Amino acid sequence: MAAATPTVDRLATAGGDALADIESLYSQVAAPLTPIQFTGTAGAKYNMGGGQPDPATLPREELADLAGELLASEDGAAALSYGEAGGFAGLRQLLSEKLRRWDGVEASPDEILITNGSNHGLAVVAQLFINPGDVAIVEAPTFMGGLRPLRQLKAQIEMVPLDENGLNVVALEGTLRRLRDAGTPAKLLYTIPNFHNPAGVNLSLDRRKRVAQLADDFNFVILEDDAYGELRFTGEQIPSIYSLARKGRVIRSATLSKILAAGLRVGYTIAPKEVVGRLSSLKLDGGASPFTGRLAAAYLKRRYEEHVTLLRDVYRRKRDALVKGIEAGFAATPHLKPAYMLPTGGFFLWLKLPAGTDGTRVAAEAAGRGVAYVPGQAFFADGSGAEYIRLAWSMLSEEDLEAAGRLVAEAIRAAAAK
Ligand SMILES: Cc1ncc(COP(=O)(O)O)c(C=O)c1O
Repeated sequence: MAAATPTVDRLATAGGDALADIESLYSQVAAPLTPIQFTGTAGAKYNMGGGQPDPATLPREELADLAGELLASEDGAAALSYGEAGGFAGLRQLLSEKLRRWDGVEASPDEILITNGSNHGLAVVAQLFINPGDVAIVEAPTFMGGLRPLRQLKAQIEMVPLDENGLNVVALEGTLRRLRDAGTPAKLLYTIPNFHNPAGVNLSLDRRKRVAQLADDFNFVILEDDAYGELRFTGEQIPSIYSLARKGRVIRSATLSKILAAGLRVGYTIAPKEVVGRLSSLKLDGGASPFTGRLAAAYLKRRYEEHVTLLRDVYRRKRDALVKGIEAGFAATPHLKPAYMLPTGGFFLWLKLPAGTDGTRVAAEAAGRGVAYVPGQAFFADGSGAEYIRLAWSMLSEEDLEAAGRLVAEAIRAAAAK
């Protein structure tokens, strides 16, 4: 005991120096990432920062009951032991049925890989295709969880803009052609077709078909990230690119984080069996949790449809409350109102600040009013996008969202007046 104390003390007091000593030992992939700047912190009164599901919607009691039943059952030991490489087979079977019934996606259980959240799946897919210097195309803007692994793997990242119908496929084709002519053809396209994070838009059916065709013409793989597809408030479901493209062209990523509980860390990647096998070989995490896999399966079996229906209603109301606050906040100064599109699902409102407004100043004004959100730069691979801000309506109450919307308006007006 006595010997341990001085060591701990020495580390604690010499922390800075100790870290400087190991600087040269870091691997290349541990190089600092482009900083992602969040205004405010989780401690902000009105936190519209992360895509964190509403804690009030977490089915805690029911999960507690199911966990108790599971651990007491014959399957309890398996739930607490190492599991199958691909994740709990019962969950993969259930997801296969759900995909067929609700999403129009045909995937057998061995075409599904359970991951530690879909962030993990995105990282492993990037690893499967990207060697340093390989070209990956991302949307501008895009989700930072998709960008991070590409940066880490030292991909050459190319951006293609979005509009209200999602990825601009004409620009995409131009980029693909330019890259091919330069002798650096794209290998991977990362796209978020439903209720885009951060832009809130949907990729239209025509464009989905076009993207699938371009993947054949230019020989690249599509990583289709569908974290929010189930949270549709209005309109018809649009078929996934996975279901429209030739088999093998698309790897689809999905998650239970937004429709059940992010803390269970259950994501799933859908791909042909051979691809799943290769992805498994890269997944060095000792396997997805057999416990949360079983728990999620038990919950989904019991209440998938009912719960998703409830969530759609909860998040639609939240979106409406935020938009109400924003509209009210600009009633007297419509010329200062940011441009935005009303998303038909998901978690995010993406505002384009009026021309000449300094995004940094808006962020400071917002922080001063207790409002936290993510500034646009976090979502552009090249760090541009200062004229945008992303507000997540998922976490706050309707009342707070309306107030927060007014405060964002106040912050923008105050920044414009300076
Ligand atoms: C577009 C998108 N993809 C993937 C994820 C990852 O979610 P998880 O790792 O919790 O499954 C998120 C979460 O914010 C997201 O917004």
